[in-house]
Amino acid sequence: MVNPEIEKRKTFAIISHPDAGKTTLTEKFLLFGGAINTAGAVKRNKANQSSTSDFMEIEKQRGISVATSVMGFEYNGKRINILDTPGHKDFAEDTYRTLSAVDSVILVVDCVKGVEEQTEKLMSVCRMRNTPVIIFVNKMDREGKDAFDLLDEIESKLNISLCPLSWPIGQGHTFKGVYSIYNKHLNLFEPDKKKISTPVIEVNSLDDENLAQFLPEKSLTNLKEELELVEGVYGAVDKEMYLEGLLAPVFFGSAINNFGIKELLDTFVNIAPSPKSREAEERVVLATEKNFSGFVFKIHANLDPNHRDRIAFLRICSGKFERNKFFYHTRNNKKIKFSNPMDFMANEKSIVEEAWPGDVVGLYDSGTFKIGDTLTEGEKLQFKGIPSFSPEIFKEVENRDPLKTKQLEKGLQQLTEEGVAQLFVMQPGNRKVIGAVGDLQFEVIAFRLEHEYGAKAHFRMLSYTRSNWVTSKDPKKLEEFLKRKQQHIGEDKDGNPVYLADNEFMINMTMRDYPDIEFHKTSEFK
Ligand code: G4P
Repeated sequence: MVNPEIEKRKTFAIISHPDAGKTTLTEKFLLFGGAINTAGAVKRNKANQSSTSDFMEIEKQRGISVATSVMGFEYNGKRINILDTPGHKDFAEDTYRTLSAVDSVILVVDCVKGVEEQTEKLMSVCRMRNTPVIIFVNKMDREGKDAFDLLDEIESKLNISLCPLSWPIGQGHTFKGVYSIYNKHLNLFEPDKKKISTPVIEVNSLDDENLAQFLPEKSLTNLKEELELVEGVYGAVDKEMYLEGLLAPVFFGSAINNFGIKELLDTFVNIAPSPKSREAEERVVLATEKNFSGFVFKIHANLDPNHRDRIAFLRICSGKFERNKFFYHTRNNKKIKFSNPMDFMANEKSIVEEAWPGDVVGLYDSGTFKIGDTLTEGEKLQFKGIPSFSPEIFKEVENRDPLKTKQLEKGLQQLTEEGVAQLFVMQPGNRKVIGAVGDLQFEVIAFRLEHEYGAKAHFRMLSYTRSNWVTSKDPKKLEEFLKRKQQHIGEDKDGNPVYLADNEFMINMTMRDYPDIEFHKTSEFK
C-alpha cells in the first residue's frame, strides 16, 4: 500500500571531495526550499583544510553542526531531508556512516579538478549499498576540463554509466548557460551570488528562431553538434538503472552563482527514490510496514562538558515514530520512550510529535545508544549497513595521570561509541589502540578526554596502517591463527578479532600463509 507520508520523503546527502562545493550547493538548495533567506546563512561546517591544528574551530562549530546535521524543508509538495556530512577528510568515517541513513546522494565534482581521491572513496561506499547517485559538475564559471573529457574521466574512475541531463554552453569566460536535456529548456548564465532568479527560455527545438537573440550562431551550432553527440553516446535516461545505482544522471552548473541548481533540484525531487526497504540481519524491513523501526547512525556529544548527555540521530525505516511512546531497544533488551525528540525542519530544532520513514529525529541520550543500535515496537531486529572501515593511523593510548585511570577508560569507551575513532584492545595487558583516518581525530580525543573526563592521554604511534577483520569456517584454525599472530591482533568494539598490519604486502603474505582464514576490509560481511 502506498503511504503518501513515505512517498513524499526524499532523504539524501550532498557529498564531495573537500572544496568541490558541497556546502555551497547545500546552501543553495535551502535557499530554493525557503529554509533560509539569504546566501551565507549556513556556516561553513569545516576546519581549514590545510591545517590539522584547527580543531578548536571544530569544537566551536559542534553546536552549529548539530543544527545542520539534518536540514529539512518542503519543496514542490515533497519533504526534503538533507543529511550533512563533515567537510574535513579526517572525519570521513562519519560521512560513511551518514551515507547508511540516506536513500540517495548528490555527488559534487569540481570541473577544474575532476575526480579526486575522496570522490572515488565516497563512490565506492555508495556502491556497497547500490545507493542511487546524481552527479553535479560544479564551477562551470571557471576554466576547467572539457565536458566530454570530464564525463570520460568520471565514468572510468568512478566505474559507473552516465547520462547527462543538462549540457553546458561554453565554459569559464565563454560560459553562456546550460541546456536542460531533460526539460528541453535553455537557461542563460547571469552571474549572481545572491538572487535565485535566472532567465529561462523554453524551446521545443534548437531550431527555434527566437534562440538567435540569446545565443551567438557559433555557440548554437556547437551546442547542436555536442547534443547530437551526447544523444548518440549516452541515450535517454534509464530511471530504473539510476534507482539500482547502475547509472548516474549528470548536471552541470555553478553553485556559487545559483546556476543550474533549480534544474538539478526539480529533477532530483522527480526521480530520486523515496524510502524503500532496508536490510536487517533477521529480514528485510519494508518502509510501508505498520510497525515502527529505525536505527542510530550518528551520536553527537553535548557541547556543555557538565552535561554528559548526547544526541543520538535516529533514521526511521518503517512505521510511525511517536513522542512518549515506548519503543524497544533491541541491543539492551529494554523499553524506552522519548519525551523530547527533535525535528530539524527548516534548519531549526523543535520537538516532534511524530515522524515517518526517511525522517531523522534527534534523541537525547545519556549513554544508552551506540552507533548502529536499532529501535522497534518489540521485534528483535538489528539493521545492517554501518560497517567500520580500516583506519590508516594506529596509536597506542598511554595514560598520563594514573589517578584518572577510570575516567580515561570511560572517556575512551564513550568517545569511540560516538564514532570519533575506533578502539582496539590488544593483549597482553589490555592495551588500548586507537585507529583513525586522520590526525585531527587524535587531537579531538585528547582535547575531549581532558576537558570532558579530566583524563590525560598520550598517543604513541604504531607502525600499522591497515586492519582486517578475520573469520574462518573452522573455529580451531581461527583460534590457532589468533594465538600465532597475537601481537598483531586487536579486539574491536564488538569483541571481534582484527588483524593489524603494516602494509598491504604483509596482509597478502599472511593471507597466503593462512588460506583457511578470511580477511575482510570492513567490519560487516556476509
Ligand atoms: P565544500 O563544502 O565541498 O568543501 O566546498 P564549499 O562549498 O565550501 O566551496 C569551496 C570553495 O569553492 C568556496 O570558496 C566556494 O565559494 C567556491 N565555489 C563553490 N561553488 C563555486 C562555483 O560554482 N564557482 C566558483 N568559481 N567557485 C565556487 P572559498 O574561497 O574556499 O570560500 P569562500 O570564501 O568563497 O566562502
